[in-house]
Amino acid sequence: MRLPSPSVVSAFTTFFACATATVQGSNSGHSFYTTSGGVPVNDPTAFQRVGRNGPILLQDTHLIEQLAHFARERIPERVVHAKGAGAYGVFEVTEDITDLTSAAFLDQIGKKSRVLVRFSTVGGESGSADTARDPRGFAIKIYTEEGNEDWVFNSTPVFFLRDPSKFPLFVHTQKRDPQTHLKNATVFWDYLSTNQESVRQLMHLFSDRGTPFSYRHMDGFSGHTFKFAKHNGTYNYVKIHLKTDQGVRTLTNEEAGDLAGKNSDWTTQDLFEAIQRGDNPSWTAYVQVMSPEQAEQFRYSVFDLTKTWPEDQFPLRKFGKMTLNQNPENFFAEIEQAAFSPSNIVPGIEPSADPVLQARLFSYPDSQRYRLGVNFNQIPVNCPMHVNNPFQRDGHFAIHNYGAAPNYMSSFHPLVYRSVPTKEHEEWVGKATLFSSVVEDKDFEQATEEWAYLGTMEGQQRNFVHNIAVHLCNAHPEVRKRTYGMFDRVDAQLGQWLREETEKEVVALSV
Ligand code: HEM
Repeated sequence: MRLPSPSVVSAFTTFFACATATVQGSNSGHSFYTTSGGVPVNDPTAFQRVGRNGPILLQDTHLIEQLAHFARERIPERVVHAKGAGAYGVFEVTEDITDLTSAAFLDQIGKKSRVLVRFSTVGGESGSADTARDPRGFAIKIYTEEGNEDWVFNSTPVFFLRDPSKFPLFVHTQKRDPQTHLKNATVFWDYLSTNQESVRQLMHLFSDRGTPFSYRHMDGFSGHTFKFAKHNGTYNYVKIHLKTDQGVRTLTNEEAGDLAGKNSDWTTQDLFEAIQRGDNPSWTAYVQVMSPEQAEQFRYSVFDLTKTWPEDQFPLRKFGKMTLNQNPENFFAEIEQAAFSPSNIVPGIEPSADPVLQARLFSYPDSQRYRLGVNFNQIPVNCPMHVNNPFQRDGHFAIHNYGAAPNYMSSFHPLVYRSVPTKEHEEWVGKATLFSSVVEDKDFEQATEEWAYLGTMEGQQRNFVHNIAVHLCNAHPEVRKRTYGMFDRVDAQLGQWLREETEKEVVALSV
């Protein structure tokens, strides 16, 4: 076999190394129009046929290639979070947190890292309405000197579940019915009322924060507990919060529905246009810190994703600012093909033993191998600043394939290693690791607090009840009854109010 000449290899290496910068411009150095094979074409709309009116010819490579490529334009959309929008920006360290983490990108005040952010809705297809009631995805890829750090966050501080095995089943209930291909309110509430650990998330989702005015006007949360670790072996549990500097702004249920009809791409448009006019949105980053000893004493398991940490006990500590300042040049190449994963995690930050997080570490790259192909990390937008893994070879679309470098641990060309000075520091026993899937009374406590919090804002308790009532009224009577019971456990008055409002809506539907 003839090996590539050194000049070819280095050209590919250069492409690969530059790839994170941005994916811009055309693939071609030519200014004239060609086939994909680079052959000049006179007229893109012309086609070859026998005589003036005869059949077209198989030799018309240009036409055939146009039709064939067109038919293959679609790739699988993300199984969740299919509709989204994104932009580039910068993350800047504003406060010293080197006492908490050894992560290189956080090691000094003023240090800046380039980021890519993708916001999304969760349940809808890639053409669905931006203003649907849904949590919003808030995924950030930070290109650091020690590899990509992805924060694959949501706009809600908690999640629907704490058992990873429930995720596919849960998602099915929020999507389309297998027979009718319609959304099904009975199925939606049947799941939620039989898996009541989701109640804290429902308090957020059915408040007006479930319909943010735009991506610029919402917060982002790690939700999961992560660990900030030091090279000396110490660590703390952390949750990360990103607070919008634009202020939280929401839509009412009716405004959101109205916009879905009038401009279903509203939040996509809002983000693009704001950045285009230089109105660059920003978020302030905070961390909540809990020591392993505090975790042993905490009322809830720190690995229970359905719970927040009270801010009066675990105050928010500011450490950075993220600003979005550049729109993508090409949506498909840079946003649709972006692959975020909680498993992209740099030294100094570690996953906790939260089982949902552990499942996600597997699920994202698995999804991306299917969606984008095994070499998805070679797509420029996903490509880290530095990469050297010559044992991962070949596969579809291997653009950079390490040339003639050995594909095994060769004694002739030993690899160079940069040691990551980290110590074993996890104790896999202790109260903090205890975990229960069974729903208990204490699973309702934070939902009760949330209900009281809604009461501090004019009209928000009323909107919450209304937002559920107009949806739940479409569900089967048994499911409605069970759902009222669930909210009775949050607050008896709430349960009663919801019962009355929903049954009024049921009557209105039947006339
Ligand atoms: C067991 C639980 C979960 C599983 C199995 C799961 C799985 C997935 C999968 C397969 C994707 C599509 C990835 C792709 O094709 O690129 C995805 C996207 C996403 N997930 Fe999850 N997910 C889970 C829970 C969560 C949680 C708890 C959060 C937030 C705290 C979250 C946030 C996101 C976001 C933001 C995206 C979109 C990323 C993007 O913009 O490309 N997911 N999830």
